[in-house]
Amino acid sequence: MSTKLTLQSTYPLLGDAGAEMPVLGFGVYKSPQDVTERSVTTALKTGYRHIDSAQYYENEAQVGNAVRAWCLETHTSRRDVFVTTKIIFPAKTKEETLESLRESVQKVNLDGYVDCFLIHTPTSGPEGRKHLWEALKELHSEGKVVTIGVSNFGVKHLQELIDRNETPAVNQIEIHPWCQQRPIVELCKKHKIVVQAYCPIVRGEHADDADVLKIAEKHKVDWSQVLLRWSLQKGYVPLPKSDTPSRIASNADLYGFELDDEDMKTLDAKDQGAKGAVAPNPVDCE
Ligand SMILES: NC(=O)c1ccc[n+]([C@@H]2O[C@H](COP(=O)([O-])OP(=O)(O)OC[C@H]3O[C@@H](n4cnc5c(N)ncnc54)[C@H](OP(=O)(O)O)[C@@H]3O)[C@@H](O)[C@H]2O)c1
Repeated sequence: MSTKLTLQSTYPLLGDAGAEMPVLGFGVYKSPQDVTERSVTTALKTGYRHIDSAQYYENEAQVGNAVRAWCLETHTSRRDVFVTTKIIFPAKTKEETLESLRESVQKVNLDGYVDCFLIHTPTSGPEGRKHLWEALKELHSEGKVVTIGVSNFGVKHLQELIDRNETPAVNQIEIHPWCQQRPIVELCKKHKIVVQAYCPIVRGEHADDADVLKIAEKHKVDWSQVLLRWSLQKGYVPLPKSDTPSRIASNADLYGFELDDEDMKTLDAKDQGAKGAVAPNPVDCE
């Protein structure tokens, strides 16, 4: 299965007939506004077709500008690029929340819709999460988003939705060998929820790991490519971020080698649970 993956591979999304998500994404967290456009353009030229932004990143408009210009220049359909954004907190009323969601769609400004809108964190509590989900459903019924999902949701937050027959299409969580979130992944697999992996190269924190370097040397690739390939072979959708053109290219150059069972076993053994996370990890919050 993994050998057949290419830069063009996609995964089907639950519930939205025919909707597909490109398997490799491009993250733009902490990409400064005056750099994002250039980085997203470089990513699109490299072959990425999936960009991950958020209201919190304050670069939704720059992502949209780059995608729009590149589609125009290369005569590519906007439908061929998958753009995600996210919302953190509900506003006072559902209408105000909906207005905030519509504003994001307007900022992205790509034919009046985004491909994916996620609840960024579960931290607004059961009522807040329900409020956000209802608003996202409304945006969906307006045709302004193709698919809706969640991020940083732990087992109980996912179960809350599943119990209401509202299974999200996506859960975006921190995943890499040091933080594998196995119970969440298991539940996602059971319900066909696509798992997007953020911090897939752990922000460089384990660049000097001896086992990773050994595997990299064996396959004549970089440590970062080993971690991204692990993510792909686990069936996740990794979202590496870079504003460095050479890294944007190498982070997408993942299809000329394959990790063998022994490599995968070595990496699988590195799990440190929540201790291994590098981002604030609210999967256990109320
Ligand atoms: N939903 C959430 O709560 C959440 C949280 C965190 C992240 N995310 C998403 O996931 C994306 C990725 O996570 P992240 O940005 O936190 O971490 P990451 O992708 O693991 O690491 C990004 C960092 O690594 C550097 N880097 C990138 N490629 C490299 C390479 N080949 N060699 C060496 N260094 C490299 C980048 O620097 P340069 O840019 O300088 O190259 C940047 O500092 C985000 O951009 C965002 O879209 C979501």
